[in-house]
Amino acid sequence: MDTIKLGLIGFGTIGSSVVKILQENGGLISQRLGGRLELVKIADLDITTDRGVKVEPGILTTEVGEILEAPEIDIVIELMGGYEPARSFVLKAIANGKHVVTANKALLAKYGDELFGAAEKAGVNLLFEAAVGGAIPIIRSIKESFVANRVEAIEGIVNGTANYILTKMSDEGLPFDQVLKEAQEKGFAEADPTFDIEGIDSAHKIAVLTRLAYGTTVDFDAIYVQGISSIRQEDIECAHEFGYRIKLLAVSKFDGSTIDLRVHPAMVPEDKPLANVNGVLNAVLVRDDLMEENILIGHGAGGLPTGSAVTADVVEIARDIITGCTGRVPSQAFPSGSQTAIPLKNINEIEAEYFLRFSVQDKPGVLSRISGILGENQISIRTMIQRERDPRGGGVPLILMTHQALEENVQKSLQEIDSLDVICEKTVLIRVEK
Ligand code: HSE
Repeated sequence: MDTIKLGLIGFGTIGSSVVKILQENGGLISQRLGGRLELVKIADLDITTDRGVKVEPGILTTEVGEILEAPEIDIVIELMGGYEPARSFVLKAIANGKHVVTANKALLAKYGDELFGAAEKAGVNLLFEAAVGGAIPIIRSIKESFVANRVEAIEGIVNGTANYILTKMSDEGLPFDQVLKEAQEKGFAEADPTFDIEGIDSAHKIAVLTRLAYGTTVDFDAIYVQGISSIRQEDIECAHEFGYRIKLLAVSKFDGSTIDLRVHPAMVPEDKPLANVNGVLNAVLVRDDLMEENILIGHGAGGLPTGSAVTADVVEIARDIITGCTGRVPSQAFPSGSQTAIPLKNINEIEAEYFLRFSVQDKPGVLSRISGILGENQISIRTMIQRERDPRGGGVPLILMTHQALEENVQKSLQEIDSLDVICEKTVLIRVEK
C-alpha cells in the first residue's frame, strides 16, 4: 500500500481537527484511498498548548523548514492563515516540488496569480476547498460538477460570524454591539472581528470563486466592500415590514463583458432561500445557463467541518499521486494561459432597488425636499414609512424604498440630501438583491 507523507503548518483549531480526522477516520480514508496518509510533522510557533489531540513525540516542531525542506513530505497543509509568512512558506513548498492544501482565502484572493502560477510551473497541485464555505463543496462543484455550465452569477452568504449577528438581531431584536459581544464571548467571533463584520473575509471568498467561475484574474483591492457594522435594529425591523431579511451578501455577476463584484448588506425577499440561511450557516447560490439556480448550504466554519474539506483535498492529491496523474484538474478550474482579465464593473454602474433610512427633523417640507432631490436624479419612490417621534428628541427615521435606480444617481442624491440642514445623521443605504 502506498504511503503519502504529510506536513502540517499551523496547529490551531483547524489544524488540530485535521489531525483528529486523520486519527479517527484514518482507516476509512485508507480504504477509500487505497493508500495510507501519514502525518510526519506539525509546525507551529506554539507546540506546548494542549490541542485536544495526542501526537507522537517528535512530530511537533517550531521549525517550519523541517516540513518545507523534508524530501519525504509529499503534501504540505498550510493552516496558519494570513498573508505572510504563509505566502513565503507556500511558495517554498511549491518550489521544493510539494503539493499544497490551504484554507487561506486571504492569501489566494490577494496572491492567487503568483501562487497558482508557481504551482502550475512546478507541476504540483494547490487545492483550497476549505477556503470558501468550509465544508460546503463549492470549489469542487465549480471546478468539476459545473464544468459544462456557463456561470452567470454567484451570490453567497460566506461569513458565518456576520450571518450569526444579523440572524440574532433579526430573531431576538438585539442591537448589533450586544450580539457581537456575546458572539465573541461564545467564541463565534474573533477578538478582532474586523475581517468578518466589515466584509473583508467575504470579499476574499467571492474573489476566489470569481476566479474559478469565469476564468479571470481578480484585483482584490478593486472589489466594492461594505460591512454590517452600520446596520441598526430599525433597519432590520423595517426590512421585515417590507418583507425582507438583511444578509451580508457576496455577489459576483458576469454579463459577458464585465463582472459586478461586490460585498455589502442586502435586503433579500423573505421567501427566497438565501433569506432563510440563518445562524452560522453559509450558502452559495450559483446561477448558470444550464440549471438556473443551484444552492449549496452548510457549515462554513468550525474545526471539523473545515478540517473535513482540508482532508478531502489531501485525499484528492494522494489519489493523483497514487495513480500518477497529477494536474488532471487545473487548480483554478482553467489552465493558466486560458485565463483573461475581465474588467470589474464600477459600483456606480450597477442598478438596484434601494432601501434608504434618513434621520430627519420632523417638520413641514422635509419630505418634499428629499423627494425633490431624488426626483431630480431620476429616482422613483416605491414606498415610504415615517416612524413616530422619539420623546427623547433627535431625528425621526424616514424610510424610503425606491424602484430600480442607477447607483451613481442614488449616491449623488444622498450627497445632496445629507448636506441639508434638516438631516440629523448620515443616511443609511441598503441595496435590495432579488
Ligand atoms: N471567520 C469565518 C466566518 C470563517 O465567520 O465565517 C472562516 O472563513
